[in-house]
This record gives sequence, structure tokens and C-alpha cells, in this order.
Amino acid sequence: MKISARERLKLLAGASALALGACGGGGRSTPTPRVSVRPPSPPPPPPPVTSPPPPPPVQGLLRDTYRSNFKVGVALQSGALTPPDTSAIIAQNQFNSLTPEFELKPDIISPREGVFDFTVADRLVDWALENNMEVRGHTLLWHVTTPDYFLQGTRDEIKTRLETYISTVIGHFKDRVKIWDVVNEVVSTDIFRGSEGIGPDRRSNWYEAVGNADYVEWAFLAARAADPDAILFLNDYETDNPIKQVWLLEILERLRTKNIPIDGVGHQAHLRPETSISEVLGAIDAVDNQFMGLTQHITELDLNAYQDPGTCWESQINCEADIGPVPPDALLLEQALKMRELFDGLEMRSSVTSVTTWGVIDSDSWLNRTPITRFNYPLFFDREGEPKPAFYAITNPSFEI
Ligand code: GLA
Repeated sequence: MKISARERLKLLAGASALALGACGGGGRSTPTPRVSVRPPSPPPPPPPVTSPPPPPPVQGLLRDTYRSNFKVGVALQSGALTPPDTSAIIAQNQFNSLTPEFELKPDIISPREGVFDFTVADRLVDWALENNMEVRGHTLLWHVTTPDYFLQGTRDEIKTRLETYISTVIGHFKDRVKIWDVVNEVVSTDIFRGSEGIGPDRRSNWYEAVGNADYVEWAFLAARAADPDAILFLNDYETDNPIKQVWLLEILERLRTKNIPIDGVGHQAHLRPETSISEVLGAIDAVDNQFMGLTQHITELDLNAYQDPGTCWESQINCEADIGPVPPDALLLEQALKMRELFDGLEMRSSVTSVTTWGVIDSDSWLNRTPITRFNYPLFFDREGEPKPAFYAITNPSFEI
């Protein structure tokens, strides 16, 4: 799969020209009629010193390519807006859904009991709507961004606090945000259940404070009460992991049996080099098969360049060495292959109505800082905002990888 940088540039230029042609911006000129006597040829132009950069992608190419299948969304931070930076401009030009990266999380909205600050969230939500983007409300409950005060007191006090929080937040955005990740990452990450019957529920600060996983149900019921029309999601990562997937399905089954109002499943899709795309698609099929009618979203798509051992994530030990500022072509092409396989599969699954990438340009990504600080290349646009081969792979079927 090796390919030279020169060949890659040629491919990119060809792909862009094709895309432009499709929108009426290109096309061949009429062939010159043959003449019997050729005039003397003009001297050839001097060779260009560097290859010309490919033309920018047609505005809206990403969202338009999938318009009849699903929204194509992006996570953005409010800091990107004033003045609009490269990420904000690309978001405006290419995407039709937006997820605030931090601004709708409880530690930002309500860092202290009784305090609700919607300033940064309002700015981002209004900007998205002005730019014809749908907004994904992420997230009402996540153990990582729950301020300590939330979990103090009795079970009843915690329940009331959660209900007040959810009704206040959904109430504030009711006319603008209709999709909510009600709970984030509540499925267990334990690899083994253990002999004592460790269940499918994550043993988080929420689980410990409440004594069981009832808070998941409280959150969905409160969300439905706050907005009967909202589309309510359970969002989680590595739903392609066979053990975790079983637990996810168990939790969904439990919620259904108890008539808890849930409308959809969000698959974060933080992909790794070793991720099998057919297993990611298999997670969507597993939910489809057992829970017909649930909507499914890909909520945080990216592809990590590094194949780190668990010790790197847990204690930053034995992490792979930094690739540096220039990604190898093989890595970019591998990303293009994986993303094409994924989008081809998503297009064929009618329950999937939204696909969001977690950041716009490579330097936006959390994967440059987690689990350690290193250059990473997880997204569809490079650090300068230029589309990468993965962008062309999913917007132009004739783009050869
Ligand atoms: C999780 C969360 C996201 C984001 C990412 C990366 O997946 O759901 O909100 O914080 O981690 O940090």
C-alpha cells in the first residue's frame, strides 16, 4: 500500500478536479480539430518548481455527499468562533451538525450547586443554528464531568438534584436542541464479570453514590419529562468490543422492559489502528436486530494513529514513540481505507441518521494530549485545514486509494 508523496498529490488533485467537475466547476474543453500542417511548437513551459496544491474541496461536499443518508457532524469548542478559526470555517463549509465539545457538560454549566451558566453553550448553539446545523446535546450525565457536589447527600437528594439539573438544562435549550446524550459511558469496562456477578453497569462515582444503576433511568425519565419531543440517547465507546456489546444490549433490554424512554444509541467510534470496521458496523447491526426502531448515531469518530498497550492508557508506560509532525503516507492511506469502508457501511444502515467527527483539523483532537502528548492524525483535515486522503475517500467514489 506504499505510495509516494508525488503520487498522492496527483491523486488528491485528480480527486478535487473530479469533485469540481461534478458541480459544474470543471469539465474538458472541446478538442482542437486536426490540421495537416502543424505550426512550429512553442517552447515548453519551464517545469514548476513545486507541485501545485490541490484545489480546495467544493463547499458542502461532505454534508451533501451523505444528505440523503445522515447528517455529518463535528465537535467544536466555543473558542473557535471569535474570530472564526480554521476549524470553525471548515465546520461552516462542510458539516450540518454540531456537538459542543465541552460547553454542555455539567461541570461547565453548573460548577456549583444552584449556579447555571449557559454563556458559552448559548454562543456555540446559536452559531450552529445560524449556520444551519443541527445540535447534539452532549451530555447530561457523565461520571468524568460530574462536579463533586452532585453526588453528596442521600439517594433521594441526588435524584432530585439530577432531575432539577436535567429539567433546567433541557428547558433552557428546548427550542434549539432536540437531541441529547442523556447518559455517557455507563456500560461497564470490566473485562470479566467476576464470580460475584459484576453486572453490565459501570462501577462509577454515580453507581457508588446511588448504590446501583437507577440513576440511568432517573436521567431518561427526567429528560423525557422536560421535553417530550427530544430524541434521547445512551452514548458509549468501544461498542464493538464483544464483551462490552453484550452489556450494552443488556442495559438496553433492561430499560425497554421498564418502559424507560430511550430513542437511540450513540457509538462514539474512537477507532484504533487494529479496529475492525466490520465489528463497528456489527455493533450497529446488533442494536438494530434486537431493538428495531432505535435511532443510531456515530458520535465521536476519530482514528488514533497509535497502537498503544493498555499500560499507556492506564499509566503512560510503554506508549508508542511520537510519529512527529509529518505523517507517513501509509498512515494517511490506511485511514482513507478504513474511513471509506466505514462510511460505505454506514450508508447502507438506515437506522444511522448522524455521523460526527470529534474535532475538525488534526490539531483539534484530544488524541494529541491523551494518553500522552504526541502528534496525532485522527481527523479528515490536516493541521493547515487541508483535506486529507480520508476526506476524498468518503466524498469521491472514484478516488483511488
Ligand atoms: C469521551 C467523551 C467526550 C470527550 C472524549 C475525548 O469520549 O464522551 O465528550 O471528552 O471522551 O476526551
